[in-house]
Amino acid sequence: MGGSLIELINVSKRFPGVLALDRVSMRIEVSEVHALLGENGAGKSTLGKILFGVYAPDEGVIKVRGREVRIPSPRHAMKLGIAMVSQRPQLVEDLTVWENLVLGLGKDLRRDLYRTIDEVSRELGIELDLDKPVWSLSYTEKQMVSLVKSLAVNPCLLIMDEVTTYLPNNVRSRLYEFVKKFVENGRSVLFITHRIREALEIADRVTVLRKGRVVATYNRGVDIDSVRRAMFGDRYWNGFGTHEKTVALGNMVLTVSSLTVLGDHGEEKVRGVSFDVREGEILAITGIAGNGQRELAEALIGLRRVARGRITFMGIDITRYPPSKRVSMGMGFVPDDVAKMSVSLEMNVYENMALRLGTTRFDALAKVFESYVHEIPVYTPSPKVPLKVLSGGNLQKIAIIKELASQCKLLIACNPTRMLDEASAHRVRNVLRNVAKRGAVIVFTEDVEEALGLGTRIAVMNRGTIFGPYHREEIDVAKIEELMVS
Ligand SMILES: Nc1ncnc2c1ncn2[C@@H]1O[C@H](COP(=O)(O)OP(=O)(O)O)[C@@H](O)[C@H]1O
Ligand SMILES: [Mg+2]
Repeated sequence: MGGSLIELINVSKRFPGVLALDRVSMRIEVSEVHALLGENGAGKSTLGKILFGVYAPDEGVIKVRGREVRIPSPRHAMKLGIAMVSQRPQLVEDLTVWENLVLGLGKDLRRDLYRTIDEVSRELGIELDLDKPVWSLSYTEKQMVSLVKSLAVNPCLLIMDEVTTYLPNNVRSRLYEFVKKFVENGRSVLFITHRIREALEIADRVTVLRKGRVVATYNRGVDIDSVRRAMFGDRYWNGFGTHEKTVALGNMVLTVSSLTVLGDHGEEKVRGVSFDVREGEILAITGIAGNGQRELAEALIGLRRVARGRITFMGIDITRYPPSKRVSMGMGFVPDDVAKMSVSLEMNVYENMALRLGTTRFDALAKVFESYVHEIPVYTPSPKVPLKVLSGGNLQKIAIIKELASQCKLLIACNPTRMLDEASAHRVRNVLRNVAKRGAVIVFTEDVEEALGLGTRIAVMNRGTIFGPYHREEIDVAKIEELMVS
């Protein structure tokens, strides 16, 4: 490696009620993938945003190639050669891909744009249609446009903040390869993630943040247990816990018969799917993203029309019922994108709960919230701040708590742990197991291990069709992976 590219010395950042970064010192070398790892709310995004000129630090020094700098805006950051891609693509939806790419880009830099587009397309295996409006792109394509856009300024440091969260597994592994290649030419990546395995797979060095402080920096080859211990401190626990003995099954909760559901462009995304779920069950539906899971979930809760087939809930045909009616009958829903579909970012925790539970008795809501926070810790400066200041993981926890508090009979949860660090994910899985004791759960997850660890039965979705459900004893990782791509 070729010496230090970026150095932070005693950088602190305070938000009302929370010290997000507490005298952070770290170095990013030239030509390294440096992972910044920490649980939800550890201060990772804050650090990334300080380097990208979104926030000014309250204290401390930042050096680029040994020279002290101030980074008052993202524009300054880019001039210094620092670019950032986040979990949420920051694009203008009504403009085309090309218009987005050249927006704000100096003429001198446009020449290289085609080369960058070609390179990224090739590495990730995705073609980009430059004339398409951005709103018509998939999440993966939008994320790719963001990546190209940030690469267009020829950065020496690329900050990637939880960029893989919503990517399908195959694209994710290609992105890892892209990142490793990217740093071969004297450029560096600060790879922000809450996933330990991801950090260990991709990084030359890993810095662990806990509650705003650097607790350790490791070289490649460190064992996962040491990292876990550093990340979670005294909340470190052993493994994922074991399955409880199979619970006795009760009454039928949901029956889905020959269900066909159309996608956004009128194509059949769910093709004649049938399954049922009883009290006491967790049905885990796994598969590669984009194989109809989202459309199926939306049809179950009533957000998407059913083209053919029938949904019966607690013995009643609800196929044509609107979501509100299904919810009042006892369905709960945690969507993939909670910020878009489940919570209001302008409202605080209590207001969000009030909306869901239909009561404005805030003292009672506070009590309910406290009782769940005991099970799933949420880090907020206060439950009275608008949710927009919270990290994605904490938003996801609040969306889950809101549904739990409704005491729903059937909880439909889409990738409920993907934004969560291991300890929080573990808590959420336990909570889902508890829901199944008084009702049923359908969990959509792209994580095969999670499906196997959580599901009492497991189904695989592939091109709109469902394989299974299988009992846990009938299936293993290899068989699931075969069904996912067959
Ligand atoms: N703009 C903001 N206003 C107030 N508090 C914030 C803001 N941004 C982050 N925080 C708080 O700072 C802490 C660190 O957040 P963040 O850097 O997003 O964590 P991470 O990315 O590691 O999940 C959290 O407690 C979060 O609620
Ligand atoms: Mg973050």
